[in-house]
Amino acid sequence: MGLVDVLPMNWEGGALGGCSLSDLAETYGTPLYVVDERHVVDRLAAFQRAFGSDAVTAYAAKAFFCVAMAELLAAAGWWVDVVSGGELATALAGGIDPGRIVVHGNVKTDAEIEQAIIAGVGRIVIDDPVEMSRLIEIAAGRQVRTMLRLNIEVGADTHPKIRTTGSEAQFGMSEQQADEAITRLDRVAGHGITLHGLHIHIGSQLRDPQIHRMALDQVMAFAETRRDRFTGKVIDVDVGGGFGVPYVDDDPVIPIESYAAVLTAAVDEHVNLRLMIEPGRSVIANAGVTLYRAMSRKGSERPFLAVDGGISDNPRPALYDARYEMRSITRADSPHDIPFRVVGRHCETSDRLGEMLLPGDTVPGDLLVMPATGAYAHAMASRYNMLPRRPVIFVADGQARVAVPGETLDDLVR
Ligand SMILES: Cc1ncc(COP(=O)(O)O)c(C=O)c1O
Repeated sequence: MGLVDVLPMNWEGGALGGCSLSDLAETYGTPLYVVDERHVVDRLAAFQRAFGSDAVTAYAAKAFFCVAMAELLAAAGWWVDVVSGGELATALAGGIDPGRIVVHGNVKTDAEIEQAIIAGVGRIVIDDPVEMSRLIEIAAGRQVRTMLRLNIEVGADTHPKIRTTGSEAQFGMSEQQADEAITRLDRVAGHGITLHGLHIHIGSQLRDPQIHRMALDQVMAFAETRRDRFTGKVIDVDVGGGFGVPYVDDDPVIPIESYAAVLTAAVDEHVNLRLMIEPGRSVIANAGVTLYRAMSRKGSERPFLAVDGGISDNPRPALYDARYEMRSITRADSPHDIPFRVVGRHCETSDRLGEMLLPGDTVPGDLLVMPATGAYAHAMASRYNMLPRRPVIFVADGQARVAVPGETLDDLVR
C-alpha cells in the first residue's frame, strides 16, 4: 500500500524508463500516455511464473491494445483475448499465433465470425445458444474450436458497472442455456465445431481471490458433470480477468501470487482440467501514466484546476467514479497538501479527473502526471469535442518510441 505500488516499476522522480517526463511532454505535447515497457514485460513474466506453465495466460486486449503491445505478448508466449475484428486484426499484425487467440463478445457480427474462422483462431467463446446456431451456419462445416461463456451468480464485490455476471449482466448464458447450446450441436451433422471448455468473467477490480475460486468451482462442477460433451480429454476452464490493482495510495495491493495460489490449487483438485485466465487491467494499469498540462485555475477553496484533457482521454472517472492520484512534475518537491478539483476541458460537468492533493502554488503551465492510467484510458479514448486522440509512447532504458501515433486535425477532417 502506497504510491510506489500505484506507479510504474521504472519510475524515478520525474523520469520513467530513464526518460524525462518533461522532455516527453515537450516533444510530443500533452495529454500524453506514457507506458513503462519493462514494467509490462516483467508483469507478463510474473503472471507466467505465478500461474505456472500448465495454465494459459491470455491478455484481455480491451484493457489497452496496439501492435507494439501485441508484439510484447507474442514474444512472451501469451494468448490474447479479443472482442472485435479490430482487436483480432491488431493481434495478428503483432504476430500473435492465431491458435492463441480467443474471440469473445456478446455480439459478434457475421463478418467478425468469418474473419475469426479464416484466421484459424484458437477459440471462439459462444455467448448464447442462438449464437451457436449462427456459428454452425457461418462455419458451414469448417473446423472451429469453441468454448461456452457461463453466467453464474457469484456475488462479486465490485462497482455494479464493472460486474459482468449475475442477472443484471448481459454476458454469457445460464447452465440451462449452455445445455441448449450443446444440444444445438447434436442436431446438426458434420458441423465441424468442437467444444473445448467453459468461460466465465465475473467482473473487474476483484480483490478477494475467493470470489474467483467460487466462480471457478461452479464452472468446474459444470464441466465435470458433462465431460462426454467436450472434445478431447482436457477441458479448459477460463476464469476470466478482473484481478484488482491499486489506483490510489491507500488501495490494497493483492499480489498476483495470491490469486494464482487459490486458483491453481482449485484446478489441481481435478484431473484433466486446464486453467485459463484473462487479465487485462492487472497487466497494464500500473505500467502507464498520463501527462497533463494545467490550463486554468479558478476559485480559492478547493480550487478548480482544469487540464488539457479529460473525459476524451480517460472516461473512467465519469463512467464509474474511478479514483486516481495526481502529482506535479513542475513542483515535484513541494508538499502535495492542497485539495484541487481537477477537471477536464470538455463540455460536461462530469468531466472531472477527481479531487487531487497538489502543491498550493500550482498554476497554469505546470506539468502534472496521473499514474495508473495504463488500462481502459487510451483504450476507451474518444474524439469528443473533435479532439484528436493522443499518442502512446513506450519508454525503456532511456529510449522513447511511439507505440500509437497521435491523431492529427487532418485525420479528424478526413
Ligand atoms: C471476457 C473478459 N475477459 C477479461 C476481461 C479483463 O478484465 P480486467 O481488465 O479487469 O482484468 C474482461 C473485461 O471486461 C472481459 O470482459
